[in-house]
Amino acid sequence: MRTRPLKVALLGCGVVGSEVARIMTTHADDLAARIGAPVELAGIAVRRPDKVRDGVPAELVTTDATALVKRGDIDVVIEVIGGIEPARGLITTAFAHGASVVSANKALVAADGAALHAAAQEHGADLYYEAAVAGAIPLVRPLRESLAGDKVNRVLGIVNGTTNFILDKMDGSGAGYSEALDEATALGYAEADPTADVEGFDAAAKAAILAGIAFHTRVRLDDVHREGITEVTAADIASAKRMGCTVKLLAICERAADGASVTARVHPAMIPLSHPLASVREAYNAVFVEADAAGQLMFYGPGAGGSPTASAVLGDLVAVCRNKLAGATGPGESAYTRLPVSPMGDVVTRYHISLDVADKPGVLAQVATVFAEHGVSIDTVRQQGKDGEASLVVVTHRAADAALSSTVGALRELDTVRGVASIMRVEGE
Ligand code: HSE
Repeated sequence: MRTRPLKVALLGCGVVGSEVARIMTTHADDLAARIGAPVELAGIAVRRPDKVRDGVPAELVTTDATALVKRGDIDVVIEVIGGIEPARGLITTAFAHGASVVSANKALVAADGAALHAAAQEHGADLYYEAAVAGAIPLVRPLRESLAGDKVNRVLGIVNGTTNFILDKMDGSGAGYSEALDEATALGYAEADPTADVEGFDAAAKAAILAGIAFHTRVRLDDVHREGITEVTAADIASAKRMGCTVKLLAICERAADGASVTARVHPAMIPLSHPLASVREAYNAVFVEADAAGQLMFYGPGAGGSPTASAVLGDLVAVCRNKLAGATGPGESAYTRLPVSPMGDVVTRYHISLDVADKPGVLAQVATVFAEHGVSIDTVRQQGKDGEASLVVVTHRAADAALSSTVGALRELDTVRGVASIMRVEGE
């Protein structure tokens, strides 16, 4: 084994960074044996040195992250700061000074992955980011390496723990969205500003990364159709239950049937209780991957938290260090298929639509006619009347999202339709 250590700079020492530092210290011998050389934490860049946690060597702490990545003797930079800047500038500076990079930064990789990969390649460095998607769950490496000989057609999963926790609480107790969010916040599952999670931004970044890797093409964050869970009501959950379903925030990346394009979307959807994703509880994540030869694979586990995310970071650190010792690099960006990303209107799926209508003769026929005129076939209709008004729940067969949108637009024009209470896609059947 080489005795000269590989030097590692850690950018960020919050919940994830401090776990990375702790495991690097406590598992130093195992890491050295697996890599073939010792790894040494050479510096830790933080914004607030007074907040550095127990067990983190204080003598390594600096507030000058730029000077740390420019040192020239750093082999690997671990970036767990998050956000776009200064993370992007520090990563590109690290490449320019000969370091490889391990990042947990989903927002940055989703926004700027192509440019970062190009910078890594230009400098003969690695860019690894297993921790950016679904915490501890191995997904990036299985897609980039284990399935590199197969053809992936679909990635479908729960990739945001906060929203899964909220929807699970709503499902379990009948609580409304606000009440379930309050519980998630009190228990530390939701951040003080939960926007990134509840509006689907976090899941959309992960979907962009997964779709790009799975289909060997570029999928930008803006290409991902995004809807969060803030409009999901207790009535939606109750309606899902009546259909033998539950509601989950899903990230769905699909190759079109003709293979000529892909789609990527994040939205709440009803899934049957018999589907394995329905039993993913609390803040857990789970992702289905469907490939030509492999068939269906499911990956399940903790998608967030200091120690699970640190596990993914350290796995990447070992891989990148091994590459360094071999004088090689691992897989870079693979975007050779250049498949276009189709708009949401082209997505074909089933819909559950809840309408408030007048309860009088001919209304059902009127509503059914609007569906027929837009080429959307109805699977089931359930009506419940009360005091001259009725609630009408229509579940469709598979239809294009654009056709469904036009149908709903036309339904809103009918005098007898008082309102469209909810529209939710039905997946996983
Ligand atoms: N906030 C994310 C979640 C974890 O709730 O799953 C980090 O991506």
